[in-house]
Amino acid sequence: MVAAVKDGFAHFDLAAMSKADGYKLLASVILPRPIAWVVSKDVAGVLNAAPFSFFNILSADPPMVAIGFSAAPDRDGKDTLGNIRAKGEFVVNLVPEELAQAMNVTATNAPRGTDETRLAGLELAACEEVDVPRIVASPVALECRLWQVIEPGGTSSIALAKVVRVHVRATAFEDLARLYVDPSQMRLIGRMHGGGGYCTTRDVFNIDRLSWPLAGKA
Ligand SMILES: Cc1cc2nc3c(=O)[nH]c(=O)nc-3n(C[C@H](O)[C@H](O)[C@H](O)COP(=O)(O)O)c2cc1C
Repeated sequence: MVAAVKDGFAHFDLAAMSKADGYKLLASVILPRPIAWVVSKDVAGVLNAAPFSFFNILSADPPMVAIGFSAAPDRDGKDTLGNIRAKGEFVVNLVPEELAQAMNVTATNAPRGTDETRLAGLELAACEEVDVPRIVASPVALECRLWQVIEPGGTSSIALAKVVRVHVRATAFEDLARLYVDPSQMRLIGRMHGGGGYCTTRDVFNIDRLSWPLAGKA
C-alpha cells in the first residue's frame, strides 16, 4: 500500500516511495505544465532539440525561467543540460498544436550528436543575442542565458536562466502597443498526466481581480 487513504484523500510520503513512483505521482497531478522546447548547441556546433515540461517562468525582475532535468544514466545526463552547461545559452520555444508531433520526434533518445531539429524537419531562424536559433513555426521563443545549475541532492538538476530576448509572432497580439496577447492565436499545448497526455490552451475563462475590502464580506 503506497498511500494511506483517510478522510477521502490518499496521503503519500514521498520519502517512502520509489523515485519512479514519486515522479509518476507528481507528474500526474501538477497539471497542466507548459513545455519548453529547448534548442541548444554542443561545443562542436551541432544543434539539439528536446522538450521539457518541468519548466516555468519564476520571476520577471530579473526575467528568469527554470528547467528541471532528470538523470539519463545511459548517456551521462541529458544532452540539453550538457550543452547548456558548456555553452551557457539556449532557446526555449513554446509548442503550438501543429508542432506536437514534431516535438515528440525530438524527445527520442537519439545518439549524442544527432541534430533533432533536422530529424523533425524544423525551419530555424537566427536569434539576436544567443548563438542558437529559434524554431520559426513556434509562436513564442525565449533567448536564454544560463545563470546557475542547481544540484539539490538527488539525481535531478535544475537550470535557472535569464531571458534576454522574447520573440512573439505578431498575429498573436490583439493590441501590440498594449501588449494584449490573444492566447487562442498561439494555440499552445501543455503537458498532462500519463505517458502521452497533452492539453490545449483553448479552454479559457476569465475572473476579474478583486480589491480589498471584498464586497459583502466582513
Ligand atoms: C512533453 C515532454 C516533456 C518532457 N519533459 C521533461 C522534463 O521536464 N525533464 C526531463 O529531464 N525530460 C523530459 N522529457 C524527456 C526528454 O525530452 C528526453 O529525455 C529527451 O531525449 C532529452 O533529449 P536530450 O538528451 O537531447 O536533451 C520530456 C519529454 C516529453 C515528450
